[in-house]
Formats: sequence, structure tokens, C-alpha cells
Amino acid sequence: MQQQNRARIAIIGAGTIGGALARALAPEWPVTATRRDLKKARSLEELGVTLTGDNSEAAAWADLLLLAVKPRQVVPVLQEIAPFTDGKPVVSFAAAISLDIMNRAAPGTRFIRAMTNTAVEIRRGYTVYACSSQVTEADRKLAEEVMRHAGEVQPVEESHLDVLTAMAGSGPAYLYTVVESLIYGALRMGLPRDLALRSAAHTLIGASELLLASGKHPAELRDSVVTPGGVTIEGLYELEEGRVRTAFMKAVCAASVQARKLAEEARIQAEEAIRPSFAKKENPVGSNSGLNVPFRT
Ligand SMILES: NC(=O)c1ccc[n+]([C@@H]2O[C@H](COP(=O)([O-])OP(=O)(O)OC[C@H]3O[C@@H](n4cnc5c(N)ncnc54)[C@H](OP(=O)(O)O)[C@@H]3O)[C@@H](O)[C@H]2O)c1
Repeated sequence: MQQQNRARIAIIGAGTIGGALARALAPEWPVTATRRDLKKARSLEELGVTLTGDNSEAAAWADLLLLAVKPRQVVPVLQEIAPFTDGKPVVSFAAAISLDIMNRAAPGTRFIRAMTNTAVEIRRGYTVYACSSQVTEADRKLAEEVMRHAGEVQPVEESHLDVLTAMAGSGPAYLYTVVESLIYGALRMGLPRDLALRSAAHTLIGASELLLASGKHPAELRDSVVTPGGVTIEGLYELEEGRVRTAFMKAVCAASVQARKLAEEARIQAEEAIRPSFAKKENPVGSNSGLNVPFRT
């Protein structure tokens, strides 16, 4: 399909995730991206992305918005663009900020709350999302088509999104720790660096793809490569002694607890940011918009 016949996508906040999404989507869709410091996003222009520092201009132009600012910036940015997002679908990738908060910050906008990871840049992301009740089937299909272009997509209950933040969002950091450890083990045994990195990374890819393709439980696949008295069991025995499984389980639990704690803090602070703006509407003389309440992420 010709780019000009496709939905226009505005990415608000072209940082790590927003920039990665822009790079994945620009060849297929007309994309406008925003951030305050446009110098840092110049490389996107080479891919055909239009840059602007004006969120409202981008919102007015777009059919679909992808919001990728930090959680503390979500409410102020939504309040800024609300006049231009009325009746439009907006997908927020921000951790912690619930559909309820967004609905109240910009009533009339149709929100999808998503979580993804940096692999969207190479179209191998894993994106989960939940829709607010105002989202139409056409919105959902468009948003899913766009997100699917950047990798795997799955609808989920919103209540699962904080744990999925700790899995899909933070997961690459845990897996890079695994890969780095494998590389250092191999370096210790004298393997050249490049070979160590490639063997660790490709082993991770192959193991993941076999896991998904086979439909088997990882324990079954692990057992299938253990030979009595062989090589693998020696490595596994060391991992068990190092309590690696406990460490990873604790990592996911701790990150999930932190995601929930931040979500609760975000809720309280968003309440404060939203409330004065309602008061302001009722009383136009009121001056404090309450938009500078800091969110901690
Ligand atoms: N990084 C991850 O792996 C990951 C994974 C999943 C989800 N997320 C979520 O994605 C969101 C972005 O995270 P990130 O890591 O990509 O952060 P980031 O690199 O800091 O990107 C945020 C971007 O928003 C821009 N921004 C800030 N205020 C703005 C405004 N008023 N208008 C327009 N743009 C504005 C910033 O650029 P300027 O300062 O130049 O404006 C920055 O480029 C977060 O909510 C996070 O929870 C991140």
C-alpha cells in the first residue's frame, strides 16, 4: 500500500522507545515524531520521519498517536494535546500510567495502554496491550497492525501490565546479563571475544525460537540436552549451586513490586496534576495547573 494512503502516525517523545518505534514504522507509514530537543532526533529525518517540537501540531495531523514520554510527562503532555486527540486513538507505552489516569487527563481520547521493549527497533519487539472501553474495533485493529509491524503483539488484561513491565519491558536487561555472563565464561576459557558474543547471542535466539516452536516446557527442553555424566550437567550443577533460578525469580518479583509501587505513586501524583486542571476549567481565574508534580520512575 502507498504510504500516503496509510494512517498518519505521530510519535510523541522520540527517545529510546519512541525513536525505536519511528525507525521500525517509518518505511511503511507516514510518521511525525516530536521531542523538545530535536537535535537528538535528527537521524530519524534520514528515514523519512518528519520532526517537530510542537506536540499539538503532530497530534492534529495524526490518525494514530504513540505516546512514548516518561511516565511523569504523560499527564502534562496529554493535557497539552487533548484538544487535538479528541476522538482519536492514542497508544501509550509509558509504564505505570493507567488507562483510568489517561482517560481522566484527556477525556474523549481513546486510549490503549501498551508495554514493549527496545527490540521494536529491529521489528522483534514483544508488545502487550490493553484497551479502554472507548476504543473501537477499528482503533484496535489499526493499533495492532502498527504494533505488529514492530514485532509480536498480544492483548492482555490491564491488571497484568505491571508484571509485564518487569518481563517484557525490563526483560532485555536480564537477558543481556545472562549473555554477558556466558561471554565472560567463554573469555575466561580463552574463546575470542567475537566468537564468544556470537555464540552466546545465537544460542539465546535458537533456544527461544525452539521453545516457542516446540510448545514444550523449558524444563523438558533442558532435560533433553542433559546426558548422564556429560558436559551440560556439569554446567547446570554449577548454576544450581549459584541459585540462578531463585535469582531470576526474585528479579522478576522485585521488578514487578517496583512497577506496582511506581504505578501507585503515579496514580497519586496524576490525581494531583489532573484535579487542579478540572478546577481551572470550573474557575478560569485559577492559576495553578499542578502540571509540574514530579513523577519518580
Ligand atoms: N526504555 C525501555 O526499554 C522502555 C520499555 C518499555 C516502555 N518504556 C516506556 O517508554 C517511555 C519512554 O521511555 P524511554 O526509555 O524511551 O525514555 P527516553 O529515552 O527518555 O524518551 C522519552 C522522550 O520523551 C521526550 N519528551 C519529554 N518531554 C516531552 C514533551 N513534553 N514533549 C515531547 N517529547 C518529550 C524526551 O525528549 P526531550 O527531552 O528532547 O523532549 C525523550 O526523548 C517511558 O514511559 C517508559 O516507561 C520504556
